[in-house]
Amino acid sequence: MNLDELNQIKTIALQAATAAQTTEEIEAVRIEYLSRKGRLPLLMAELKNVPAEEKPLFGKAVNELKKELTECIQARQSEAAPKTQQPLFDCSQPGQWQSLGTRHPITQITERITSIFQTLGFTVADGPDIETVFNNFDALNTPADHPSRDEQDTFYLNSGELLRCHTSPVQIRYMKENKPPIRIISPGRCYRRDTSDATHSANFHQIEGLYIDEEVSLADLKATLNHFARELMGPKAEIRFRPHYFPFTEPSVEVDIKHDKLGWIEVLGAGLVDPNVFINVGYDPACCSGFAFGMGIERIAMILFGINDIRHLYENDQRFLAQF
Ligand code: PHE
Repeated sequence: MNLDELNQIKTIALQAATAAQTTEEIEAVRIEYLSRKGRLPLLMAELKNVPAEEKPLFGKAVNELKKELTECIQARQSEAAPKTQQPLFDCSQPGQWQSLGTRHPITQITERITSIFQTLGFTVADGPDIETVFNNFDALNTPADHPSRDEQDTFYLNSGELLRCHTSPVQIRYMKENKPPIRIISPGRCYRRDTSDATHSANFHQIEGLYIDEEVSLADLKATLNHFARELMGPKAEIRFRPHYFPFTEPSVEVDIKHDKLGWIEVLGAGLVDPNVFINVGYDPACCSGFAFGMGIERIAMILFGINDIRHLYENDQRFLAQF
Protein backbone atom coordinates (compact mmCIF):
# COMPACT_ATOMS: atom_id res chain seq x y z
CA MET A 1 0.00 0.00 0.00
CA ASN A 2 1.32 3.46 -0.87
CA LEU A 3 0.11 7.04 -1.19
CA ASP A 4 -1.07 6.66 -4.83
CA GLU A 5 -3.28 3.75 -3.95
CA LEU A 6 -4.63 5.68 -1.02
CA ASN A 7 -5.53 8.60 -3.32
CA GLN A 8 -7.40 6.23 -5.63
CA ILE A 9 -9.42 4.92 -2.71
CA LYS A 10 -10.15 8.49 -1.67
CA THR A 11 -11.53 9.37 -5.12
CA ILE A 12 -13.75 6.28 -5.18
CA ALA A 13 -15.04 6.88 -1.64
CA LEU A 14 -15.94 10.51 -2.28
CA GLN A 15 -17.61 9.60 -5.57
CA ALA A 16 -19.67 6.92 -3.83
CA ALA A 17 -20.74 9.38 -1.13
CA THR A 18 -21.72 11.97 -3.73
CA ALA A 19 -23.58 9.50 -5.94
CA ALA A 20 -25.67 8.05 -3.08
CA GLN A 21 -29.23 9.47 -3.22
CA THR A 22 -31.36 8.11 -0.43
CA THR A 23 -30.48 8.12 3.26
CA GLU A 24 -30.12 4.32 3.04
CA GLU A 25 -27.60 4.54 0.20
CA ILE A 26 -25.61 7.19 2.02
CA GLU A 27 -25.65 5.13 5.22
CA ALA A 28 -24.33 2.14 3.23
CA VAL A 29 -21.33 4.22 2.07
CA ARG A 30 -20.71 5.32 5.66
CA ILE A 31 -20.71 1.73 6.89
CA GLU A 32 -18.46 0.61 4.06
CA TYR A 33 -15.78 3.19 4.79
CA LEU A 34 -16.14 4.58 8.27
CA SER A 35 -17.60 1.85 10.51
CA ARG A 36 -15.36 -0.01 12.94
CA LYS A 37 -14.65 -2.76 10.41
CA GLY A 38 -14.82 -0.43 7.42
CA ARG A 39 -12.11 0.34 4.86
CA LEU A 40 -10.61 3.30 6.67
CA PRO A 41 -9.74 1.45 9.90
CA LEU A 42 -8.24 -1.24 7.65
CA LEU A 43 -6.13 1.40 5.91
CA MET A 44 -4.79 2.50 9.28
CA ALA A 45 -3.88 -1.09 9.95
CA GLU A 46 -2.00 -1.06 6.61
CA LEU A 47 0.31 1.62 8.01
CA LYS A 48 2.79 -0.99 9.13
CA ASN A 49 3.28 -2.17 5.50
CA VAL A 50 3.92 1.31 4.17
CA PRO A 51 7.56 2.20 3.35
CA ALA A 52 9.12 3.95 6.34
CA GLU A 53 9.69 7.29 4.59
CA GLU A 54 6.01 7.51 3.50
CA LYS A 55 4.61 6.64 6.93
CA PRO A 56 4.08 10.16 8.33
CA LEU A 57 2.48 11.39 5.08
CA PHE A 58 0.36 8.25 4.73
CA GLY A 59 -0.96 8.53 8.32
CA LYS A 60 -1.79 12.17 7.76
CA ALA A 61 -3.52 11.41 4.43
CA VAL A 62 -5.70 8.67 5.99
CA ASN A 63 -6.80 11.08 8.74
CA GLU A 64 -7.62 13.74 6.16
CA LEU A 65 -9.59 11.25 4.12
CA LYS A 66 -11.55 10.26 7.22
CA LYS A 67 -12.36 13.89 7.99
CA GLU A 68 -13.33 14.78 4.43
CA LEU A 69 -15.47 11.70 3.95
CA THR A 70 -17.24 12.15 7.30
CA GLU A 71 -18.11 15.75 6.40
CA CYS A 72 -19.23 14.78 2.92
CA ILE A 73 -21.51 12.01 4.24
CA GLN A 74 -23.00 14.25 6.92
CA ALA A 75 -23.77 16.93 4.34
CA ARG A 76 -25.33 14.37 1.97
CA GLN A 77 -27.44 12.95 4.78
CA SER A 78 -28.91 16.27 5.76
CA GLU A 79 -29.67 17.00 2.08
CA ALA A 80 -31.33 13.65 1.53
CA ALA A 81 -33.31 13.36 4.77
CA PRO A 82 -36.17 15.80 4.15
CA LYS A 83 -36.52 14.83 0.49
CA THR A 84 -37.12 11.18 1.17
CA GLN A 85 -39.48 11.88 4.13
CA GLN A 86 -41.75 14.47 2.52
CA PRO A 87 -44.44 13.44 0.06
CA LEU A 88 -43.72 14.65 -3.44
CA PHE A 89 -45.31 18.00 -4.23
CA ASP A 90 -47.66 17.80 -7.17
CA CYS A 91 -47.62 21.24 -8.70
CA SER A 92 -50.41 20.34 -11.15
CA GLN A 93 -52.92 20.00 -8.26
CA PRO A 94 -55.47 22.84 -8.11
CA GLY A 95 -54.82 25.16 -5.17
CA GLN A 96 -57.04 25.45 -2.10
CA TRP A 97 -58.87 28.79 -2.19
CA GLN A 98 -59.42 30.55 1.12
CA SER A 99 -62.62 32.55 0.85
CA LEU A 100 -62.38 36.24 1.73
CA GLY A 101 -64.23 37.51 4.78
CA THR A 102 -66.76 40.34 4.64
CA ARG A 103 -67.48 43.07 7.13
CA HIS A 104 -70.39 42.42 9.47
CA PRO A 105 -73.67 44.04 8.31
CA ILE A 106 -73.77 46.15 11.50
CA THR A 107 -70.27 47.46 10.77
CA GLN A 108 -71.22 48.17 7.15
CA ILE A 109 -74.31 50.18 8.13
CA THR A 110 -72.44 51.99 10.93
CA GLU A 111 -69.75 53.07 8.48
CA ARG A 112 -72.29 54.12 5.88
CA ILE A 113 -74.29 56.29 8.30
CA THR A 114 -71.12 57.73 9.83
CA SER A 115 -69.72 58.72 6.46
CA ILE A 116 -72.97 60.48 5.45
CA PHE A 117 -72.68 62.73 8.51
CA GLN A 118 -68.93 63.12 8.11
CA THR A 119 -69.51 64.77 4.72
CA LEU A 120 -71.68 67.31 6.61
CA GLY A 121 -68.80 68.11 8.96
CA PHE A 122 -69.72 65.84 11.88
CA THR A 123 -66.85 64.09 13.64
CA VAL A 124 -66.99 60.78 15.49
CA ALA A 125 -67.09 60.89 19.32
CA ASP A 126 -66.82 57.88 21.57
CA GLY A 127 -67.99 56.91 25.04
CA PRO A 128 -67.75 53.86 27.32
CA ASP A 129 -70.38 51.11 27.58
CA ILE A 130 -70.28 51.36 31.39
CA GLU A 131 -71.76 54.72 32.33
CA THR A 132 -72.65 56.70 35.42
CA VAL A 133 -76.32 57.09 36.31
CA PHE A 134 -75.71 60.84 36.03
CA ASN A 135 -74.55 60.73 32.39
CA ASN A 136 -77.10 58.15 31.30
CA PHE A 137 -80.15 59.65 33.06
CA ASP A 138 -79.79 62.71 35.35
CA ALA A 139 -77.81 64.96 33.04
CA LEU A 140 -80.20 63.99 30.25
CA ASN A 141 -83.07 65.45 32.25
CA THR A 142 -84.64 62.03 32.84
CA PRO A 143 -86.98 62.25 35.87
CA ALA A 144 -86.24 60.04 38.85
CA ASP A 145 -89.45 58.09 38.28
CA HIS A 146 -88.98 57.60 34.53
CA PRO A 147 -89.74 53.96 33.58
CA SER A 148 -86.45 53.55 31.68
CA ARG A 149 -84.60 53.90 35.00
CA ASP A 150 -86.37 50.83 36.32
CA GLU A 151 -84.23 47.82 37.13
CA GLN A 152 -86.54 45.88 34.85
CA ASP A 153 -85.27 47.95 31.93
CA THR A 154 -81.66 48.87 32.65
CA PHE A 155 -78.70 46.71 33.71
CA TYR A 156 -77.23 48.14 36.93
CA LEU A 157 -73.78 47.11 38.15
CA ASN A 158 -72.79 46.52 41.78
CA SER A 159 -70.50 49.56 41.51
CA GLY A 160 -73.60 51.76 41.19
CA GLU A 161 -72.87 52.35 37.50
CA LEU A 162 -74.89 50.89 34.65
CA LEU A 163 -74.62 49.58 31.11
CA ARG A 164 -75.74 52.54 29.01
CA CYS A 165 -79.24 52.04 27.58
CA HIS A 166 -78.65 54.52 24.75
CA THR A 167 -75.76 56.45 23.18
CA SER A 168 -77.10 59.80 24.48
CA PRO A 169 -74.63 59.94 27.44
CA VAL A 170 -71.91 60.56 24.83
CA GLN A 171 -73.60 63.96 24.29
CA ILE A 172 -73.08 64.76 27.96
CA ARG A 173 -69.45 63.63 27.98
CA TYR A 174 -68.68 65.65 24.87
CA MET A 175 -70.44 68.82 26.05
CA LYS A 176 -68.63 68.68 29.39
CA GLU A 177 -65.31 68.60 27.54
CA ASN A 178 -66.01 70.98 24.65
CA LYS A 179 -67.62 74.34 23.94
CA PRO A 180 -70.08 75.01 21.06
CA PRO A 181 -70.19 74.85 18.09
CA ILE A 182 -70.47 71.05 18.23
CA ARG A 183 -71.14 68.55 15.48
CA ILE A 184 -70.66 64.93 16.56
CA ILE A 185 -71.86 61.52 15.59
CA SER A 186 -71.32 58.62 17.99
CA PRO A 187 -71.98 55.00 17.15
CA GLY A 188 -71.83 52.37 19.89
CA ARG A 189 -73.27 49.46 21.82
CA CYS A 190 -76.26 49.82 24.12
CA TYR A 191 -77.91 47.48 26.60
CA ARG A 192 -81.49 46.99 27.75
CA ARG A 193 -83.17 44.25 29.73
CA ASP A 194 -85.20 43.08 26.76
CA THR A 195 -86.12 39.46 26.20
CA SER A 196 -84.64 38.43 22.90
CA ASP A 197 -87.07 37.89 20.02
CA ALA A 198 -87.20 38.68 16.30
CA THR A 199 -87.01 42.44 16.89
CA HIS A 200 -85.43 42.76 20.37
CA SER A 201 -82.00 42.10 21.73
CA ALA A 202 -80.54 42.92 25.15
CA ASN A 203 -77.46 44.18 23.36
CA PHE A 204 -77.82 46.40 20.30
CA HIS A 205 -76.24 49.42 18.59
CA GLN A 206 -77.25 53.04 18.19
CA ILE A 207 -75.87 56.09 16.45
CA GLU A 208 -76.27 59.41 18.19
CA GLY A 209 -76.00 62.82 16.56
CA LEU A 210 -75.55 66.18 18.29
CA TYR A 211 -75.42 69.63 16.68
CA ILE A 212 -75.03 72.77 18.79
CA ASP A 213 -74.54 76.34 17.65
CA GLU A 214 -76.49 79.60 17.87
CA GLU A 215 -80.14 79.72 16.77
CA VAL A 216 -80.41 76.11 15.66
CA SER A 217 -84.02 75.29 14.75
CA LEU A 218 -86.25 72.34 13.99
CA ALA A 219 -85.90 73.33 10.32
CA ASP A 220 -82.13 72.68 10.56
CA LEU A 221 -82.86 69.27 12.04
CA LYS A 222 -85.33 68.50 9.29
CA ALA A 223 -83.00 69.59 6.49
CA THR A 224 -80.14 67.54 7.94
CA LEU A 225 -82.25 64.41 8.34
CA ASN A 226 -83.79 64.91 4.91
CA HIS A 227 -80.35 64.86 3.37
CA PHE A 228 -79.46 61.81 5.49
CA ALA A 229 -82.61 59.93 4.37
CA ARG A 230 -81.86 60.53 0.68
CA GLU A 231 -78.25 59.46 1.03
CA LEU A 232 -79.28 56.33 2.92
CA MET A 233 -82.37 55.23 1.00
CA GLY A 234 -82.13 56.94 -2.38
CA PRO A 235 -83.06 60.31 -3.92
CA LYS A 236 -86.81 59.71 -3.67
CA ALA A 237 -86.77 59.17 0.10
CA GLU A 238 -88.94 61.55 2.17
CA ILE A 239 -89.12 62.13 5.90
CA ARG A 240 -91.89 63.11 8.27
CA PHE A 241 -91.89 64.21 11.92
CA ARG A 242 -94.39 62.88 14.45
CA PRO A 243 -94.61 64.56 17.87
CA HIS A 244 -93.10 62.46 20.64
CA TYR A 245 -91.51 62.77 24.09
CA PHE A 246 -87.90 62.35 25.13
CA PRO A 247 -86.72 63.82 28.45
CA PHE A 248 -83.62 65.37 26.85
CA THR A 249 -85.24 67.10 23.85
CA GLU A 250 -87.99 69.69 23.61
CA PRO A 251 -89.82 69.53 21.28
CA SER A 252 -89.24 65.84 20.54
CA VAL A 253 -90.16 63.98 17.39
CA GLU A 254 -90.12 60.51 15.95
CA VAL A 255 -88.87 60.51 12.40
CA ASP A 256 -90.21 58.23 9.67
CA ILE A 257 -88.50 57.73 6.35
CA LYS A 258 -90.51 56.79 3.26
CA HIS A 259 -88.92 53.82 1.56
CA ASP A 260 -89.94 53.27 -2.08
CA LYS A 261 -91.05 49.67 -1.45
CA LEU A 262 -91.81 49.48 2.25
CA GLY A 263 -93.65 52.80 2.68
CA TRP A 264 -93.25 54.85 5.88
CA ILE A 265 -90.92 53.32 8.44
CA GLU A 266 -90.01 54.64 11.85
CA VAL A 267 -86.24 55.17 11.96
CA LEU A 268 -85.14 57.86 14.43
CA GLY A 269 -85.84 59.70 17.64
CA ALA A 270 -84.85 63.37 17.60
CA GLY A 271 -85.56 66.86 18.87
CA LEU A 272 -84.11 70.18 20.01
CA VAL A 273 -81.81 69.83 23.00
CA ASP A 274 -83.76 70.59 26.20
CA PRO A 275 -82.41 73.74 27.99
CA ASN A 276 -82.10 71.68 31.20
CA VAL A 277 -79.49 69.50 29.49
CA PHE A 278 -77.45 72.62 28.68
CA ILE A 279 -77.68 73.73 32.31
CA ASN A 280 -76.56 70.26 33.50
CA VAL A 281 -73.32 70.51 31.51
CA GLY A 282 -72.64 74.14 32.41
CA TYR A 283 -73.78 75.81 29.17
CA ASP A 284 -75.90 78.95 29.12
CA PRO A 285 -79.17 77.97 27.38
CA ALA A 286 -79.68 81.60 26.38
CA CYS A 287 -76.55 81.50 24.23
CA CYS A 288 -76.83 78.18 22.46
CA SER A 289 -79.32 75.84 20.92
CA GLY A 290 -79.05 72.54 19.12
CA PHE A 291 -80.59 69.34 17.93
CA ALA A 292 -79.96 65.71 18.76
CA PHE A 293 -81.03 62.46 17.19
CA GLY A 294 -80.55 58.77 17.78
CA MET A 295 -81.27 55.65 15.78
CA GLY A 296 -80.95 51.91 16.09
CA ILE A 297 -78.39 50.42 13.71
CA GLU A 298 -79.84 46.89 13.72
CA ARG A 299 -83.20 48.22 12.63
CA ILE A 300 -81.69 50.07 9.67
CA ALA A 301 -79.55 47.06 8.73
CA MET A 302 -82.67 44.87 8.82
CA ILE A 303 -84.59 47.28 6.58
CA LEU A 304 -81.80 47.82 4.06
CA PHE A 305 -80.66 44.21 3.83
CA GLY A 306 -84.13 42.63 4.22
CA ILE A 307 -83.23 40.73 7.40
CA ASN A 308 -86.33 39.45 9.18
CA ASP A 309 -84.87 38.44 12.56
CA ILE A 310 -82.46 40.53 14.63
CA ARG A 311 -80.96 37.36 16.12
CA HIS A 312 -79.32 36.49 12.81
CA LEU A 313 -77.05 39.46 13.42
CA TYR A 314 -75.55 37.90 16.56
CA GLU A 315 -75.35 34.21 15.74
CA ASN A 316 -72.19 34.45 13.62
CA ASP A 317 -73.55 31.89 11.21
CA GLN A 318 -71.19 31.82 8.27
CA ARG A 319 -74.05 31.04 5.84
CA PHE A 320 -75.79 34.24 6.92
CA LEU A 321 -72.75 36.52 7.16
CA ALA A 322 -71.29 35.47 3.81
CA GLN A 323 -74.27 37.12 2.06
CA PHE A 324 -73.18 40.66 2.89
N1 PHE B 1 -81.79 58.15 23.11
C1 PHE B 1 -83.06 57.98 22.43
C2 PHE B 1 -83.45 56.50 22.46
O1 PHE B 1 -82.66 55.67 22.85
C3 PHE B 1 -82.99 58.44 20.98
C4 PHE B 1 -82.79 59.92 20.90
C5 PHE B 1 -81.54 60.45 20.79
C6 PHE B 1 -83.89 60.77 20.88
C7 PHE B 1 -81.36 61.80 20.69
C8 PHE B 1 -83.73 62.12 20.78
C9 PHE B 1 -82.47 62.63 20.68
O2 PHE B 1 -84.55 56.14 22.10
